[in-house]
Amino acid sequence: MSFKNYKDFIEEGDLVFAWISRGMIKPIHVDSTQCLNTRYGTFNHSSMVGQRYGSQIASKTGYGFIYLLHPTPELWTVSLPHRTQIVYSPDSSYITQKLNILPGSRVIEAGTGSGSFTHSLSRTISDTGKLFTYEFHEVRYQKALEEFQDHGLKNLQLTHRDVCKNGFEIEGEVINANAIFLDLPAPWSAIPNLDKVINKGMKTTICCFSPCIEQVEKTIHELHKQNWTSIETVEINHRKWESHKNMVRKLDDVIARLKDIQQRKREGVEKLRKARDERLNKRPAEEEMENDDGEKKVKTQNNYKKDVNVEKSQSFNPFGKGLRIKQGDPNFEWKNVSKDESEIKSHTSFLTFAFKLPEF
Ligand SMILES: C[S@@+](CC[C@H](N)C(=O)[O-])C[C@H]1O[C@@H](n2cnc3c(N)ncnc32)[C@H](O)[C@@H]1O
Repeated sequence: MSFKNYKDFIEEGDLVFAWISRGMIKPIHVDSTQCLNTRYGTFNHSSMVGQRYGSQIASKTGYGFIYLLHPTPELWTVSLPHRTQIVYSPDSSYITQKLNILPGSRVIEAGTGSGSFTHSLSRTISDTGKLFTYEFHEVRYQKALEEFQDHGLKNLQLTHRDVCKNGFEIEGEVINANAIFLDLPAPWSAIPNLDKVINKGMKTTICCFSPCIEQVEKTIHELHKQNWTSIETVEINHRKWESHKNMVRKLDDVIARLKDIQQRKREGVEKLRKARDERLNKRPAEEEMENDDGEKKVKTQNNYKKDVNVEKSQSFNPFGKGLRIKQGDPNFEWKNVSKDESEIKSHTSFLTFAFKLPEF
Protein backbone atom coordinates (compact mmCIF):
# COMPACT_ATOMS: atom_id res chain seq x y z
CA MET A 1 0.00 0.00 0.00
CA SER A 2 1.20 3.49 -0.77
CA PHE A 3 -0.11 6.95 -1.59
CA LYS A 4 1.96 6.88 -4.76
CA ASN A 5 1.66 3.34 -6.14
CA TYR A 6 -1.59 1.52 -6.68
CA LYS A 7 -2.33 -2.04 -5.60
CA ASP A 8 -5.49 -4.12 -6.12
CA PHE A 9 -6.08 -6.15 -2.97
CA ILE A 10 -6.10 -5.25 0.72
CA GLU A 11 -3.64 -7.02 2.99
CA GLU A 12 -3.11 -7.12 6.74
CA GLY A 13 -1.53 -3.83 7.94
CA ASP A 14 -2.60 -1.83 4.88
CA LEU A 15 -4.01 1.67 5.14
CA VAL A 16 -7.63 1.77 3.98
CA PHE A 17 -9.97 4.74 3.76
CA ALA A 18 -13.33 3.56 5.07
CA TRP A 19 -15.95 5.61 3.23
CA ILE A 20 -18.75 5.66 5.79
CA SER A 21 -20.76 8.53 4.34
CA ARG A 22 -20.10 11.52 2.14
CA GLY A 23 -18.87 13.63 5.03
CA MET A 24 -17.24 10.81 6.98
CA ILE A 25 -14.15 9.03 5.69
CA LYS A 26 -12.00 7.25 8.23
CA PRO A 27 -8.41 6.16 7.59
CA ILE A 28 -7.69 2.80 9.28
CA HIS A 29 -4.83 0.33 9.38
CA VAL A 30 -6.18 -3.15 8.80
CA ASP A 31 -5.61 -5.25 11.91
CA SER A 32 -7.59 -8.52 11.98
CA THR A 33 -7.96 -8.39 15.76
CA GLN A 34 -9.85 -5.07 15.52
CA CYS A 35 -13.24 -3.88 14.34
CA LEU A 36 -14.53 -0.55 13.07
CA ASN A 37 -17.62 0.75 14.87
CA THR A 38 -19.77 3.20 12.92
CA ARG A 39 -23.30 4.48 13.14
CA TYR A 40 -24.09 2.04 10.30
CA GLY A 41 -22.82 -0.99 12.18
CA THR A 42 -19.69 -2.86 13.15
CA PHE A 43 -17.17 -4.02 10.54
CA ASN A 44 -14.52 -6.62 11.36
CA HIS A 45 -11.13 -5.72 9.93
CA SER A 46 -10.70 -9.43 9.15
CA SER A 47 -13.52 -9.10 6.60
CA MET A 48 -11.47 -6.44 4.76
CA VAL A 49 -8.40 -8.62 4.14
CA GLY A 50 -8.40 -9.99 0.59
CA GLN A 51 -11.03 -7.50 -0.62
CA ARG A 52 -10.34 -5.48 -3.73
CA TYR A 53 -9.80 -1.75 -3.02
CA GLY A 54 -13.06 0.00 -3.92
CA SER A 55 -15.25 -2.89 -2.65
CA GLN A 56 -18.38 -2.44 -0.60
CA ILE A 57 -18.59 -4.58 2.56
CA ALA A 58 -21.58 -5.25 4.78
CA SER A 59 -21.68 -4.78 8.55
CA LYS A 60 -21.83 -7.76 10.92
CA THR A 61 -25.64 -7.60 10.98
CA GLY A 62 -25.82 -7.13 7.20
CA TYR A 63 -27.81 -3.89 7.42
CA GLY A 64 -25.12 -1.20 6.96
CA PHE A 65 -22.26 -0.99 4.49
CA ILE A 66 -19.04 0.93 3.84
CA TYR A 67 -16.60 1.21 0.93
CA LEU A 68 -12.91 0.39 1.26
CA LEU A 69 -10.93 2.98 -0.69
CA HIS A 70 -7.30 3.13 -1.75
CA PRO A 71 -5.25 5.93 -0.11
CA THR A 72 -4.92 9.14 -2.12
CA PRO A 73 -3.70 12.59 -1.05
CA GLU A 74 -7.21 13.92 -1.78
CA LEU A 75 -8.83 11.44 0.66
CA TRP A 76 -6.14 12.20 3.23
CA THR A 77 -6.90 15.94 2.91
CA VAL A 78 -10.56 15.41 3.80
CA SER A 79 -9.92 12.95 6.64
CA LEU A 80 -6.61 13.93 8.27
CA PRO A 81 -6.36 15.02 11.91
CA HIS A 82 -6.23 18.83 11.70
CA ARG A 83 -3.40 20.46 13.60
CA THR A 84 -3.58 23.66 11.55
CA GLN A 85 -5.52 25.23 8.72
CA ILE A 86 -4.79 23.15 5.65
CA VAL A 87 -4.58 23.49 1.88
CA TYR A 88 -7.56 21.77 0.22
CA SER A 89 -7.52 20.01 -3.14
CA PRO A 90 -9.06 22.84 -5.24
CA ASP A 91 -6.15 25.08 -4.17
CA SER A 92 -3.42 22.43 -4.21
CA SER A 93 -4.24 21.30 -7.76
CA TYR A 94 -4.23 24.90 -9.02
CA ILE A 95 -0.96 25.73 -7.23
CA THR A 96 0.71 22.57 -8.55
CA GLN A 97 -0.04 23.36 -12.18
CA LYS A 98 0.76 27.10 -11.81
CA LEU A 99 4.13 26.30 -10.24
CA ASN A 100 4.72 23.73 -13.01
CA ILE A 101 5.52 21.02 -10.45
CA LEU A 102 6.14 17.74 -12.28
CA PRO A 103 7.71 14.33 -11.65
CA GLY A 104 11.37 15.12 -10.94
CA SER A 105 10.73 18.62 -9.52
CA ARG A 106 12.69 19.82 -6.49
CA VAL A 107 10.28 21.66 -4.23
CA ILE A 108 10.49 23.68 -1.00
CA GLU A 109 7.43 23.83 1.29
CA ALA A 110 7.12 25.83 4.54
CA GLY A 111 5.39 25.28 6.92
CA THR A 112 4.43 21.67 6.81
CA GLY A 113 1.45 22.19 9.16
CA SER A 114 -0.88 19.16 9.02
CA GLY A 115 0.88 17.76 5.95
CA SER A 116 -2.12 18.04 3.65
CA PHE A 117 -0.31 19.66 0.72
CA THR A 118 2.84 17.65 1.49
CA HIS A 119 1.05 14.40 0.51
CA SER A 120 -0.10 15.90 -2.77
CA LEU A 121 3.35 17.32 -3.60
CA SER A 122 5.05 14.05 -2.71
CA ARG A 123 2.85 12.14 -5.18
CA THR A 124 3.30 14.72 -7.98
CA ILE A 125 7.10 14.87 -7.90
CA SER A 126 7.34 11.03 -7.78
CA ASP A 127 10.48 9.12 -6.81
CA THR A 128 12.66 11.16 -9.16
CA GLY A 129 11.85 14.46 -7.40
CA LYS A 130 12.57 15.73 -3.89
CA LEU A 131 10.50 17.76 -1.47
CA PHE A 132 12.11 19.81 1.32
CA THR A 133 9.46 20.67 3.90
CA TYR A 134 10.01 22.77 7.08
CA GLU A 135 8.06 23.10 10.30
CA PHE A 136 9.14 25.03 13.41
CA HIS A 137 6.44 23.79 15.81
CA GLU A 138 7.96 20.81 17.68
CA VAL A 139 4.74 18.79 18.20
CA ARG A 140 3.54 19.33 14.61
CA TYR A 141 6.98 18.41 13.31
CA GLN A 142 7.00 15.12 15.31
CA LYS A 143 3.48 14.20 14.26
CA ALA A 144 4.19 14.97 10.59
CA LEU A 145 7.39 12.89 10.78
CA GLU A 146 5.42 9.88 12.09
CA GLU A 147 2.72 10.22 9.45
CA PHE A 148 5.13 10.61 6.51
CA GLN A 149 7.05 7.50 7.64
CA ASP A 150 3.81 5.59 8.17
CA HIS A 151 2.56 6.58 4.69
CA GLY A 152 5.82 5.67 2.98
CA LEU A 153 6.58 9.19 1.69
CA LYS A 154 10.27 8.58 1.01
CA ASN A 155 10.94 11.39 -1.48
CA LEU A 156 10.77 14.15 1.12
CA GLN A 157 12.93 15.57 3.88
CA LEU A 158 11.18 17.17 6.86
CA THR A 159 13.28 19.67 8.81
CA HIS A 160 12.50 21.16 12.22
CA ARG A 161 13.37 24.81 11.55
CA ASP A 162 12.24 28.42 11.70
CA VAL A 163 12.78 29.34 8.06
CA CYS A 164 12.33 33.08 8.68
CA LYS A 165 15.18 33.20 11.17
CA ASN A 166 17.41 30.37 9.99
CA GLY A 167 16.71 29.94 6.27
CA PHE A 168 16.36 26.76 4.22
CA GLU A 169 19.91 25.41 3.85
CA ILE A 170 20.51 21.82 4.97
CA GLU A 171 23.98 20.55 5.78
CA GLY A 172 25.31 18.08 3.21
CA GLU A 173 22.39 18.71 0.81
CA VAL A 174 22.31 20.73 -2.41
CA ILE A 175 18.67 21.78 -2.52
CA ASN A 176 18.51 23.38 -5.99
CA ALA A 177 14.76 24.00 -5.77
CA ASN A 178 12.78 24.96 -8.85
CA ALA A 179 9.42 25.48 -7.07
CA ILE A 180 8.59 27.04 -3.68
CA PHE A 181 5.39 27.08 -1.67
CA LEU A 182 5.17 29.27 1.45
CA ASP A 183 2.15 28.84 3.75
CA LEU A 184 3.50 30.98 6.62
CA PRO A 185 2.13 33.93 8.59
CA ALA A 186 5.08 36.11 7.44
CA PRO A 187 6.36 34.83 4.06
CA TRP A 188 8.13 38.15 3.43
CA SER A 189 10.59 37.26 6.21
CA ALA A 190 11.48 33.96 4.53
CA ILE A 191 11.72 35.21 0.92
CA PRO A 192 15.24 36.80 1.30
CA ASN A 193 16.54 33.37 2.42
CA LEU A 194 15.51 31.64 -0.80
CA ASP A 195 18.28 32.82 -3.12
CA LYS A 196 20.78 30.42 -1.48
CA VAL A 197 18.64 27.32 -2.21
CA ILE A 198 17.06 27.86 -5.62
CA ASN A 199 18.37 26.46 -8.89
CA LYS A 200 19.92 29.50 -10.60
CA GLY A 201 20.22 27.62 -13.89
CA MET A 202 16.49 27.36 -14.53
CA LYS A 203 13.23 29.25 -14.07
CA THR A 204 12.04 29.03 -10.44
CA THR A 205 8.41 29.52 -9.42
CA ILE A 206 6.97 30.60 -6.08
CA CYS A 207 3.53 30.70 -4.47
CA CYS A 208 2.74 32.42 -1.14
CA PHE A 209 -0.55 31.43 0.48
CA SER A 210 -1.99 34.19 2.72
CA PRO A 211 -5.48 34.77 4.11
CA CYS A 212 -5.15 38.59 4.53
CA ILE A 213 -4.61 41.23 1.88
CA GLU A 214 -2.20 43.06 4.22
CA GLN A 215 0.04 39.96 4.12
CA VAL A 216 -0.23 39.93 0.32
CA GLU A 217 0.93 43.55 0.15
CA LYS A 218 4.03 42.89 2.24
CA THR A 219 4.79 39.71 0.28
CA ILE A 220 4.56 41.48 -3.09
CA HIS A 221 6.80 44.27 -1.82
CA GLU A 222 9.46 41.74 -0.77
CA LEU A 223 9.16 39.70 -3.99
CA HIS A 224 9.86 42.88 -6.01
CA LYS A 225 12.80 43.71 -3.78
CA GLN A 226 14.29 40.22 -4.30
CA ASN A 227 13.93 40.42 -8.10
CA TRP A 228 11.03 38.00 -8.54
CA THR A 229 8.99 38.86 -11.66
CA SER A 230 5.51 38.39 -13.19
CA ILE A 231 3.91 38.75 -9.78
CA GLU A 232 0.18 38.05 -9.69
CA THR A 233 -2.35 37.34 -6.92
CA VAL A 234 -5.37 35.08 -7.43
CA GLU A 235 -8.11 33.65 -5.24
CA ILE A 236 -9.72 30.29 -5.89
CA ASN A 237 -13.46 30.27 -5.41
CA HIS A 238 -14.38 26.68 -6.04
CA ARG A 239 -18.11 25.97 -6.17
CA LYS A 240 -19.93 23.03 -7.69
CA TRP A 241 -23.35 23.73 -9.18
CA GLU A 242 -26.09 21.14 -8.92
CA SER A 243 -29.24 21.23 -11.04
CA HIS A 244 -32.54 19.50 -10.35
CA LYS A 245 -36.28 19.92 -10.77
CA ASN A 246 -38.48 21.48 -8.09
CA MET A 247 -42.20 20.76 -8.11
CA VAL A 248 -44.27 23.88 -8.70
CA ARG A 249 -46.60 24.32 -5.71
CA LYS A 250 -49.81 26.30 -5.94
CA LEU A 251 -52.32 27.81 -3.53
CA ASP A 252 -54.55 24.75 -4.03
CA ASP A 253 -51.70 22.60 -2.75
CA VAL A 254 -51.51 24.67 0.43
CA ILE A 255 -55.26 24.31 0.97
CA ALA A 256 -55.00 20.55 0.31
CA ARG A 257 -52.17 20.37 2.84
CA LEU A 258 -54.19 22.18 5.53
CA LYS A 259 -57.18 19.92 4.88
CA ASP A 260 -54.88 16.92 5.10
CA ILE A 261 -53.55 18.08 8.49
CA GLN A 262 -57.11 18.51 9.81
CA GLN A 263 -58.10 15.09 8.47
CA ARG A 264 -55.09 13.42 10.11
CA LYS A 265 -55.90 15.18 13.37
CA ARG A 266 -59.48 13.91 13.25
CA GLU A 267 -58.26 10.39 12.51
CA GLY A 268 -55.81 10.58 15.40
CA VAL A 269 -58.47 11.71 17.86
CA GLU A 270 -60.81 8.99 16.60
CA LYS A 271 -58.09 6.32 17.01
CA LEU A 272 -57.37 7.46 20.56
CA ARG A 273 -61.06 7.42 21.42
CA LYS A 274 -61.46 3.88 20.07
CA ALA A 275 -58.36 2.66 21.86
CA ARG A 276 -59.69 4.11 25.10
CA ASP A 277 -63.06 2.43 24.53
CA GLU A 278 -61.35 -0.91 23.93
CA ARG A 279 -59.31 -0.50 27.09
CA LEU A 280 -62.48 0.07 29.02
CA ASN A 281 -63.78 -3.23 27.55
CA LYS A 282 -66.36 -1.42 25.58
CA ARG A 283 -67.48 -2.76 22.20
CA PRO A 284 -65.62 -0.80 19.49
CA ALA A 285 -67.77 1.80 17.83
CA GLU A 286 -69.52 0.51 14.77
CA GLU A 287 -70.91 2.64 12.08
CA GLU A 288 -72.93 1.89 9.05
CA MET A 289 -71.96 2.90 5.57
CA GLU A 290 -73.31 2.38 2.10
CA ASN A 291 -71.24 0.82 -0.73
CA ASP A 292 -71.48 1.76 -4.44
CA ASP A 293 -74.35 -0.70 -4.97
CA GLY A 294 -76.34 0.87 -2.19
CA GLU A 295 -75.73 -2.11 0.16
CA LYS A 296 -75.45 -1.37 3.84
CA LYS A 297 -72.26 -2.64 5.47
CA VAL A 298 -71.06 -2.37 9.02
CA LYS A 299 -67.76 -0.51 9.23
CA THR A 300 -65.62 -1.89 12.02
CA GLN A 301 -62.41 -0.39 13.38
CA ASN A 302 -60.32 -2.82 11.31
CA ASN A 303 -61.76 -2.22 7.89
CA TYR A 304 -61.96 1.49 8.67
CA LYS A 305 -58.19 1.47 9.35
CA LYS A 306 -57.60 -0.36 6.06
CA ASP A 307 -59.61 2.22 4.14
CA VAL A 308 -57.70 5.09 5.72
CA ASN A 309 -54.35 3.51 4.79
CA VAL A 310 -55.37 3.04 1.19
CA GLU A 311 -56.47 6.64 1.02
CA LYS A 312 -53.24 7.88 2.68
CA SER A 313 -50.86 5.98 0.42
CA GLN A 314 -52.61 6.94 -2.77
CA SER A 315 -53.25 10.58 -2.14
CA PHE A 316 -50.57 13.04 -3.12
CA ASN A 317 -49.43 15.36 -0.39
CA PRO A 318 -47.11 18.01 -1.90
CA PHE A 319 -45.56 19.07 1.41
CA GLY A 320 -45.21 16.07 3.64
CA LYS A 321 -46.08 12.40 4.04
CA GLY A 322 -48.01 10.67 1.29
CA LEU A 323 -47.36 9.19 -2.13
CA ARG A 324 -43.71 9.51 -3.23
CA ILE A 325 -43.39 11.31 -6.54
CA LYS A 326 -40.42 10.66 -8.83
CA GLN A 327 -38.58 13.84 -9.83
CA GLY A 328 -39.84 14.93 -13.27
CA ASP A 329 -43.10 12.86 -13.12
CA PRO A 330 -45.05 14.19 -16.17
CA ASN A 331 -48.29 14.27 -14.12
CA PHE A 332 -46.98 17.27 -12.17
CA GLU A 333 -45.53 20.66 -13.01
CA TRP A 334 -41.78 21.19 -12.48
CA LYS A 335 -39.27 23.99 -12.79
CA ASN A 336 -35.51 23.60 -13.26
CA VAL A 337 -33.43 25.01 -10.41
CA SER A 338 -29.71 25.17 -9.63
CA LYS A 339 -27.87 25.66 -6.40
CA ASP A 340 -24.24 25.69 -5.48
CA GLU A 341 -22.87 23.00 -3.24
CA SER A 342 -21.61 24.72 -0.11
CA GLU A 343 -20.01 21.60 1.34
CA ILE A 344 -16.93 21.70 -0.89
CA LYS A 345 -14.00 22.64 1.24
CA SER A 346 -11.61 25.25 0.01
CA HIS A 347 -9.50 27.75 1.92
CA THR A 348 -10.27 31.36 1.08
CA SER A 349 -6.69 32.54 0.88
CA PHE A 350 -4.90 34.71 -1.64
CA LEU A 351 -2.31 32.97 -3.78
CA THR A 352 0.56 35.19 -4.86
CA PHE A 353 2.63 33.75 -7.71
CA ALA A 354 5.92 34.93 -9.17
CA PHE A 355 8.99 33.50 -10.91
CA LYS A 356 12.69 34.09 -11.20
CA LEU A 357 14.52 33.65 -14.48
CA PRO A 358 17.84 31.76 -14.73
CA GLU A 359 21.05 33.77 -14.31
CA PHE A 360 23.36 33.74 -17.34
C1 LIG B 1 -1.26 26.96 7.89
S1 LIG B 1 -0.07 25.86 8.42
C2 LIG B 1 0.41 25.03 6.94
C3 LIG B 1 -0.61 24.01 6.48
C4 LIG B 1 -0.12 23.14 5.36
N1 LIG B 1 0.11 23.91 4.16
C5 LIG B 1 -1.12 22.00 5.09
O1 LIG B 1 -1.65 21.93 3.96
O2 LIG B 1 -1.36 21.19 6.00
C6 LIG B 1 1.30 26.87 8.72
C7 LIG B 1 2.41 26.16 9.44
O3 LIG B 1 3.58 26.92 9.35
C8 LIG B 1 4.31 26.78 10.54
N2 LIG B 1 5.20 27.94 10.63
C9 LIG B 1 4.88 29.24 10.88
N3 LIG B 1 5.97 30.02 10.83
C10 LIG B 1 7.02 29.22 10.54
C11 LIG B 1 8.40 29.45 10.35
N4 LIG B 1 8.93 30.67 10.49
N5 LIG B 1 9.20 28.38 10.06
C12 LIG B 1 8.67 27.15 9.92
N6 LIG B 1 7.35 26.87 10.10
C13 LIG B 1 6.54 27.90 10.40
C14 LIG B 1 3.25 26.75 11.61
O4 LIG B 1 3.72 26.12 12.78
C15 LIG B 1 2.14 25.97 10.91
O5 LIG B 1 2.21 24.60 11.24
